[in-house]
Amino acid sequence: MLNIAVFASGRGSNFEALHSAIVEEKFPARIVVVVSNNSQAGALSLARSFNIPAFHISQKQFATIEVFNEKVLQTLHSLDVNFIVLAGYMKKIDASLIRAYRNRIINIHPALLPKFGGEGMYGIHVHEAVIAAKEKQSGATVHFVNDKYDRGEIIEQVKVNIDTDDTPQSLAAKVLQVEHALLPRVVKRFAEKSER
Ligand code: GRF
Repeated sequence: MLNIAVFASGRGSNFEALHSAIVEEKFPARIVVVVSNNSQAGALSLARSFNIPAFHISQKQFATIEVFNEKVLQTLHSLDVNFIVLAGYMKKIDASLIRAYRNRIINIHPALLPKFGGEGMYGIHVHEAVIAAKEKQSGATVHFVNDKYDRGEIIEQVKVNIDTDDTPQSLAAKVLQVEHALLPRVVKRFAEKSER
């Protein structure tokens, strides 16, 4: 059984898609906690509406980054978390967490990595850069998280075609739609593998 922690800083539509897939498809996974560095994150209120424990844990609440990282790890251990999904989490994951969950942390990124990833490549900025580069295709990538931003091993990608009249906003909507199918599909595979 995958005991998943979802880390999210924003609206939480990928978290919601994953939650719905687990409920509907009944694969061996449960989201045991949602963690956010943003007290206003839609993901936190969504989680509470599903009766999933939801914690706002921000570095600002702690004297040092080490104490913050310890708090995150403690929270995960206390809930028996064995898999972490980053779904719009806007903070770099600390090395201590990567060590504790090696190959058990995945992230979803709204472009075809290794292109259009790294520092500053988040949200609408990604789609603006893709349109500015006159790409014919974009898409979504799920990858393992390591100590280099958006550079961990790619697990799966889905492509979307870019039309000549696409804007960053219309492209964002297209990509988000494929993200909502991709993330649950990948997590389902991990969940089924964990049962074997
Ligand atoms: C998604 O586009 C995801 O790829 C990126 O952040 C966005 C999160 O959206 N990492 P949401 O909060 O899941 O709606």
